[in-house]
Amino acid sequence: MPSLAVIGLQWGDEGKGKIIDYLAQGFDLVARYQGGPNAGHTVQYKDLRFIFHQVPSGIINPQTLCVIGAGCVIDLATLKTELSQLKDAKVDYQGRLYIDSKAHLILPYHKAIDEAREAFRTGEKIGTTLKGIGPCYEDKYARIGIRFGDLRNEELFSSKLKKNLAQKNFLLMELYNQEPLSEKKIIDEYLGYAQEFKSYMADVSELVNTAYEQGKKILFEGAQGTLLDIDFGTYPYVTASSPHAGGICTGLGIGPKRIDEILGVAKAYTTRVGNGPFPTELFDETGRILQAEGAEFGATTGRARRCGWLDAVLLRYAVKVNNVKKIIITKLDVLDRLAELKICEAYLTKKAGVVKKISIDLLSDAEVTDLEPVYLKLQGWQKTTQGARKFSELPYEARVYLETIEKLVDCEIVAVSVGKERNDIILKNSFNW
Ligand code: IMP
Repeated sequence: MPSLAVIGLQWGDEGKGKIIDYLAQGFDLVARYQGGPNAGHTVQYKDLRFIFHQVPSGIINPQTLCVIGAGCVIDLATLKTELSQLKDAKVDYQGRLYIDSKAHLILPYHKAIDEAREAFRTGEKIGTTLKGIGPCYEDKYARIGIRFGDLRNEELFSSKLKKNLAQKNFLLMELYNQEPLSEKKIIDEYLGYAQEFKSYMADVSELVNTAYEQGKKILFEGAQGTLLDIDFGTYPYVTASSPHAGGICTGLGIGPKRIDEILGVAKAYTTRVGNGPFPTELFDETGRILQAEGAEFGATTGRARRCGWLDAVLLRYAVKVNNVKKIIITKLDVLDRLAELKICEAYLTKKAGVVKKISIDLLSDAEVTDLEPVYLKLQGWQKTTQGARKFSELPYEARVYLETIEKLVDCEIVAVSVGKERNDIILKNSFNW
């Protein structure tokens, strides 16, 4: 199996960074295919903790080549900071990081518009990460985006920037009552980046396809999660890219048959940052325990994550959309203290009674937002799971919890993460990458 995708099955923050860092030890290439610095992939390395926003999570492994595909959006200021952190930690990334010249650049006006628009919304805010993601993808689809490769030609870059900035400043001043941004400052900053980052520019599609043809092992790193997908998520409370498996092809320029296996990652419970529907959200002490034990604060924004029970209805949906057969459950140890656990197996809706699946667009619909989760109750284990390295070492109730998930979503759980460290993980024999 030369290629494997790791995809988030919830609203992001499933702990993909740790899994990718673990897996990357056995892979030649790690490729990010969508999103940008809205991602926050936490990786523990020796006594250092990295939060990668832009750089693929495999960068810590000295033999792994890391690439960022055309479907991603790049904030070069964030990239610069991340690379200098890696340098300080003596991680040698020279010659191991490439960015597709077709990836779009997040420019200062994208961030300014993201912030101004969120502040300006009178109804429910989306609760974006304010990193300029949405406005950058908008420009891409409006065919006025500026791409990484445009930095090869100073004149072309400057003329595109001037044209765009005139429009963006008009919007910022006239609609959002903000100060205009300085053209000279942006041009100077970005022409500096042009020199600094030119050696990272590549045709990533060519790189990935060639690696595949040579039989190299390739890991596709998803950012965010399926329920934040622009098409298949809880629209409009979603990100602007395609985290689901289909995004791999459009984001990297490879054919679907080059994705050999897809591994879904889900937390043992559910979290969400930002606004939008969340049927199993907890507002009580249990929710607070999950938040505290799981350190549920956004890796990118520091915002407290909303917490709730595992939602098997939504998990089944994500499993289907990605065609996943094998899943990894993360943060099982966060449930260690709880005396009773619940898993949502169905919804009680006003119109249709009890339903085991729901059309994702209806979840944001006013008519069904008052749906009630139907819970399966399970006994907690109230013992630590952190030292367990085999399924048989887990408390009986924890194994029942995992087997229940397997039955509810019709997937095999091939690994369970029980702590922050790379080795705090239980692997089944079928986890064979
Ligand atoms: P944006 O991606 O910054 O436009 O934010 C849109 C929505 O996606 C908001 O609800 C964000 O909180 C959420 N979001 C974006 N990136 C992540 C992530 O990496 N993890 C979890 N939520 C995210």
